[in-house]
Amino acid sequence: MLDLKGQDILDGAQFSREQLEGIMRLAEDFRAQVREKKPLDLMRGLVMASLFFEPSTRTRLSFETAMHRLGGSVIGFASTEGTSVAKGETLVDTIRTVDQYADIIVMRHPQIGSAREAAAVAQAPVINGGDGAGQHPTQALLDLFTIRSECGGLDGRTIVLCGDLKNGRTVHAGVELYKHYACRLIFVAPEALKMPPAITERLRQLGVPVEETADLAEALPRADVLYMTRIQRERFADPAEYERLKDSYILTRAMLERLNPRLTVLHPLPRVNEIATDVDSLPNAAYFRQAQNGVYVRMALLALVAGRL
Ligand code: NCD
Repeated sequence: MLDLKGQDILDGAQFSREQLEGIMRLAEDFRAQVREKKPLDLMRGLVMASLFFEPSTRTRLSFETAMHRLGGSVIGFASTEGTSVAKGETLVDTIRTVDQYADIIVMRHPQIGSAREAAAVAQAPVINGGDGAGQHPTQALLDLFTIRSECGGLDGRTIVLCGDLKNGRTVHAGVELYKHYACRLIFVAPEALKMPPAITERLRQLGVPVEETADLAEALPRADVLYMTRIQRERFADPAEYERLKDSYILTRAMLERLNPRLTVLHPLPRVNEIATDVDSLPNAAYFRQAQNGVYVRMALLALVAGRL
């Protein structure tokens, strides 16, 4: 089903709209089954390796939760400390080794293109849990799932993506999914953190309506969804530049109430200070539900690439 058996998941651009819809439907089924506390054993006998060369809370724990909920097993590491990477082992050698043990490899690594490099040497399907400032396709899928579930769909919606659009891998992957729907995109970023022009130009060539501005307050009244992102400190070569840009946007409850009280607010998390905590208790602050959705979407993906569906 959906032609994902044995496939690597590397980039948001690899999915057709049909595949997206299929993954969304399966994730909905898994949500219902998890909520009913239905015991599942689709992945029994299979091992997922979870290799995190870079920090993570949600991506790693939701992948591991997904595998456990499907009755499978998990091996891996949450940091390279204590692994042979600390002795100087190359990525390719680590992947070749783990490939001897596991049926699926989930990985996060600071280098752009690292997941593709791993996929080139692994027999097991490789799932990219974030490659530097590159891509983060499974986050994009759970973001899509969340917008559908919070707003009933994307067609006709206006989605504002705000923050560090230059370095944010979640938005780089996200736009590759949103382009399949009849939605409008507004990119809000300071000049230095704009969406890479190659991405924006390609979207426009495909006919996706894209606007760019640095002014969040100007964009908010026209939005259905605000996707807020963190300024990606770890991607800055110059700490002074980070200091200059780190408080570019801070969403407050007062701003929302004044400009757009019905706006759905998403964030891949972790948040630093770009969403004030007084927003959290609003019914349309959806970012913790978004984190929960990661489990259902990753259950669907794991079962699909393993060929168990
Ligand atoms: C994001 C990431 O790691 O790219 N987090 C996540 O996976 N939920 C966003 C971020 O770190 O800012």
